[in-house]
Amino acid sequence: MVLQFRETQPSEWRHGSFVVSTDRERLDVPKLLAMLRDTYWASDLEHERLVQAIEASLTFGLYADSGSLVGFCRVITDGAMFAYLRDVIIDAAYRRQGLGSLLTDTVLHHPALANVHYWLLATRDAHDVYKKFGFKPLENPGLYMVRRTTETPFQTADSGSPAADPTRHG
Ligand SMILES: CC(C)(COP(=O)(O)OP(=O)(O)OC[C@H]1O[C@@H](n2cnc3c(N)ncnc32)[C@H](O)[C@@H]1OP(=O)(O)O)[C@@H](O)C(=O)NCCC(=O)NCCS
Repeated sequence: MVLQFRETQPSEWRHGSFVVSTDRERLDVPKLLAMLRDTYWASDLEHERLVQAIEASLTFGLYADSGSLVGFCRVITDGAMFAYLRDVIIDAAYRRQGLGSLLTDTVLHHPALANVHYWLLATRDAHDVYKKFGFKPLENPGLYMVRRTTETPFQTADSGSPAADPTRHG
């Protein structure tokens, strides 16, 4: 069973010459995989793991006028109390022109997430992107625990073993 928080239908917002869309079907998965594999947290990401993560998340694709994918992030949420923002990525050629902020702003204003009052994310060096939206360092990190499993290949439900490593950050 795939856990997922679904919109009744995909949403789309135009910002100048860019469009943000929650339509999973529109995502260029091979390009997204290449972009994510270039990050510090997902260099070994498998195609199948990404596909399942997309299926079980509220995804936000950022598209240039040409229609090509230039940014992405996804939200894992119950739509009421808690949301985890992760895999935020802007194509290297499009960075430092406000698109990461635009994407984050769009996520935080999604009507289906209006009730969420607890957001979490992890970042190594992009704190400034999120600070202006009210994200702060954990006040009491000792309250939090993380479980990481050993690095094992992603396995589908059909293969009879549970999916590995659900807790890596990025
Ligand atoms: C982090 C990332 C998504 C930011 O996207 P972006 O479009 O370049 O961000 P913006 O142009 O909206 O920048 C927003 C602010 O954060 C700062 N900033 C952007 N990226 C930063 C980084 N990597 N480190 C520190 N500060 C950063 C900018 O200076 C800017 O500040 P300003 O508005 O006061 O000028 C993008 O650099 C990226 O994809 N990096 C690789 C993947 C990554 O690290 N993702 C974050 C995981 S949580």
